[in-house]
Amino acid sequence: MKLKRNIILVGFMGIGKGTTARAFAKEYSIYNIDTDDLIESKENRKVKKIFEEDGEAYFRNLEQMTADWIESSVQGTLISSGGGFYKVDNLSKLGRVVLLDASFEWIHNRILTSDNAQKKLKKRPLFKHPKEAKKLYDERIKIYKSIADVIISVEGKSLDKIIREIAKETDA
Ligand code: S3P
Repeated sequence: MKLKRNIILVGFMGIGKGTTARAFAKEYSIYNIDTDDLIESKENRKVKKIFEEDGEAYFRNLEQMTADWIESSVQGTLISSGGGFYKVDNLSKLGRVVLLDASFEWIHNRILTSDNAQKKLKKRPLFKHPKEAKKLYDERIKIYKSIADVIISVEGKSLDKIIREIAKETDA
């Protein structure tokens, strides 16, 4: 399959953007890239380390640089993004924005019941304290919905169903 425009997957930490993107890319034979991965290879260190050593503002600046590069250089690709990537100033120019949506409780439970729960929590500095993560979720959920071209509710759906809905809704 060939995508007419990029698809940008957005949504809260731990909702499964990476997992969904990898399944979609495999099913439809398209390229997929991840903004956190791009940043980690550019910096040659993990997101967690970047937060510890240089702080969140520095990381957000790297996200903007990544968005600028995508805008100028990436086509026909599924892009999964970090949970705060939606803040870049050119998001709508990067492609169709697809929000993966679920309640905070569902997301928290998905992380806690995953095989590598500790690893998932460890690599996400902003998910360290569930109370603070919930606050962040409440702040962001309205914004996510307002910037999305397409909203896909993921609760209770198989990965297969989710990727088919994305394909249908984006005319991919
Ligand atoms: C962040 C989400 C993370 C990562 C960073 C900040 C956020 O990505 O980019 O820790 O602000 O929500 P995931 O959504 O893949 O966890």
